[in-house]
Amino acid sequence: MCKTIDPKNVPQRTLYTGEKMPAIGMGTFGSDRFTPEQVSAAVSGAIRCGYRLFDCASVYGNEDLIGKVFSDAFSSGVVKREDLFIMSKVWNDMHGRGDVLLSIAKTLRDLRLESLDMFFLHWPFPNYHAPGCSIDSRNPDSKPFSVEGFMSTWCQLERLVDMGLTRNIGMSNMTVPKLKAVLPLCRIKPACIEMELHPSFGQPELFGYCLENGIQPIGFCPIGSPTRPDRDIDPEDVVDIKMPELVKIADAHGVHPAVICLKWAVKRGQIPIPFSIHEDEYVSNLRAAAEDPLTDDEMAVIAALDRNCRFIKGHVFLWEGAKDWRDLWDVDGVITEFHSRT
Ligand SMILES: NC(=O)c1ccc[n+]([C@@H]2O[C@H](COP(=O)([O-])OP(=O)(O)OC[C@H]3O[C@@H](n4cnc5c(N)ncnc54)[C@H](OP(=O)(O)O)[C@@H]3O)[C@@H](O)[C@H]2O)c1
Repeated sequence: MCKTIDPKNVPQRTLYTGEKMPAIGMGTFGSDRFTPEQVSAAVSGAIRCGYRLFDCASVYGNEDLIGKVFSDAFSSGVVKREDLFIMSKVWNDMHGRGDVLLSIAKTLRDLRLESLDMFFLHWPFPNYHAPGCSIDSRNPDSKPFSVEGFMSTWCQLERLVDMGLTRNIGMSNMTVPKLKAVLPLCRIKPACIEMELHPSFGQPELFGYCLENGIQPIGFCPIGSPTRPDRDIDPEDVVDIKMPELVKIADAHGVHPAVICLKWAVKRGQIPIPFSIHEDEYVSNLRAAAEDPLTDDEMAVIAALDRNCRFIKGHVFLWEGAKDWRDLWDVDGVITEFHSRT
């Protein structure tokens, strides 16, 4: 099978700014399993195979090697800078005044770029935890969400747009109650919101709220993240790619169930950012967006597979006094900070 896909055959999404971006990209989080060398080699292969969208983050610890790959791809003429849509994120320990600028400066230096296409606020809490720590560890300085704290960080992201360091800004790991509180206060509205999205976790309310507000959802863990860090695996978790209905649809299309997860994501309207270091996988993942879409009946079958099964629960961002990980996600429809004071 051909190992390249013409990027012109990959659908595009239009942001509220009028700018276009690819309807599928590649993730770059090694999940504590894959080395920066393996991830950056995959990015190199992915550019050659036709990927034009990459989801990076400072906390993934591999932006310097990925930057070398980008730089080599530009200098060898494989692709031009303007052909790629490159995203990164500010980590939780860099929310303080002036720190967001320092964070993007380091990311731009590592990625060897003059500007980004999208810069996300990775989590809406300034709660640092050491990479790889256990889910029971708590930072005594951790705090619940506050509108004031969030907006002071978001204003710093808005300044980055003014300075030309990123064309767009986005949020990640948000909830509807948090968005209702902060969107009216934004001078520059987020163009995209990154959120966990896979067949067993479609977040219909948050997904719909983003669309109603002209914000493009980006879906992380789109295949159900079978290689996520051990600390994020709960024996109760659904395994999306083993759901019998999904396997049946995959058999009908002659592809792996992972590919069906991506076809579902693209047709639903989110931008999936699957990760893989294996060429056969990342080629078939990109191809998923370019050909053989699911039927409406198949989409309906997958829509019924939602089990509200969140994998990335975020325990390590909890503050002292929080009940459990659900406090991060405002499951009662109210921002947990306000809720706990009433
Ligand atoms: N904003 C956030 O807070 C946040 C959080 C999590 C992730 N993300 C982003 O989302 C990206 C994707 O999430 P993820 O890596 O956790 O999960 P994922 O993309 O759902 O799953 C990745 C795994 O699926 C398997 N896979 C991929 N393509 C396949 C195929 N065609 N056939 C069979 N198996 C396939 C691979 O495992 P094998 O190697 O075993 O085949 C791969 O390691 C990350 O890399 C990161 O960029 C963002």
